[in-house]
Amino acid sequence: THIYDFLVVSNRLPVDRVGEGEDAGWRRSPGGLVTALAPVMEKSDGAWVGWHGAPDEEVEPFEHEGISILPVPLSAGEVETYYEGFSNATLWPLYHDVIAPPEFHRTWWDAYRKVNQRFADAVTACAADGATVWVQDYQLQLVPAMLRRQRPDLKIGFFNHIPFPPQEIFAQLPWRRQVLEGLLGADLLGFQRPNDASNFARAARRYAGASGKGTHLVVHDPTRHDGRREVRAEAFPISIDTARIAELASRPEIIERARQIRQDLGDPKVIMLGVDRLDYTKGIRHRLKAFEELLTDGRVKVGEVTLIQVASPSRERVEQYRLLREEIEGTVGRINGTFDTMQHTAVRYLHHSYPTEEMVALYLAADVMLVTALRDGMNLVAKEYVASRLDGTGALILSEFAGAADQLKQALLINPHDIAGLKDSITTAINLPPGIAARRMKTMRRQVLVHNVEEWSSIFLARLKEVCP
Ligand code: G6P
Repeated sequence: THIYDFLVVSNRLPVDRVGEGEDAGWRRSPGGLVTALAPVMEKSDGAWVGWHGAPDEEVEPFEHEGISILPVPLSAGEVETYYEGFSNATLWPLYHDVIAPPEFHRTWWDAYRKVNQRFADAVTACAADGATVWVQDYQLQLVPAMLRRQRPDLKIGFFNHIPFPPQEIFAQLPWRRQVLEGLLGADLLGFQRPNDASNFARAARRYAGASGKGTHLVVHDPTRHDGRREVRAEAFPISIDTARIAELASRPEIIERARQIRQDLGDPKVIMLGVDRLDYTKGIRHRLKAFEELLTDGRVKVGEVTLIQVASPSRERVEQYRLLREEIEGTVGRINGTFDTMQHTAVRYLHHSYPTEEMVALYLAADVMLVTALRDGMNLVAKEYVASRLDGTGALILSEFAGAADQLKQALLINPHDIAGLKDSITTAINLPPGIAARRMKTMRRQVLVHNVEEWSSIFLARLKEVCP
């Protein structure tokens, strides 16, 4: 077997299966993480460890576009208990302000432990002496300590892509100590916002016996000569492959596609756009409520303003996601039933996912981008919209509860719970003087051009090297 110097571990592999039978193959999934890490992997003999997305199926290791892929299998039962259960019906709502009630089941926890161990074993089986391992996200929080127990020689980094909740909410988790101890196996823990890092540090001191000041933690470690080990918890706000989005936004066929989209909608004066996974954290309901009230008040008119809402299918077997879909689709039906005319629609609702090319065409077609998340680790859609607005037009409405609000300070920042404020911001965005819009967009575009995902991963990995003894 091959031995690697650099391993990235995530629940999902960065490739999706396409085609069937003879034509079956893999395609790189959209998303900046793989773009940023692919060159690092090639340079340092790296591999990616993760689940390939098909329950009850074993897939042999393979190469894809220069990346070594090491698939980890999940049984259908584990998809239900570890992925849909503990990851997405316990941790996801718990870490997102308990917007939906988290469920606590001991059988789910057992599956989470077991699957995390399988990921850790897959890594230790092929990691070179002193290799760097970078574990991604909330599905794999126990992996750092599992790695350290088996392989104290490894440099272990962890990045949490979602928020880390305040200690008072985290405290609900029956296995809070075990999760904290799992994370504390890392040398460096990365979070999106400084607050996420300090929430973690506070919880680690209170429930897992860590000491140390601020986000520089010290844990007890009997395997070391001085009996202690240092763990850093710091903020590394993730970003996007800005150059790629900008390149797509400059292509004539994509600009033409954007024009086509506007025309298909009957050339309204203003197109507003929402693009989200269909998830209760995204505040889609609040956005629809504000839009419906603006229509009712007569402050916006069908035919003049259209809202495109792309809601990509997500976690469809989890109950809260099914309930959300029913609710959102009911609301869209009511709004359109009330306000549509033969010629025009109020909300164009699309329950699909699209390739990046079509997403960029949508960004180009949209005068106003709506990001109204109730809680979001970062929100890359906001950054992608900004990256695609090469001509400086367009307005971004952005929730202060999304991590992106720390970087995109020139957006129209909103509290999505404040429907009156959201309505005012929408009308402000629609009527934003072009000079002001251009100035704001330019500043934000510069921000994402400089701080792209490539920078993010190199800063994290450099810091990991620095803190490892
Ligand atoms: C969020 C999480 C990722 C996850 C993605 C899609 O961005 O941070 O870890 O992969 O959602 O969700 P899914 O459950 O389909 O992997």
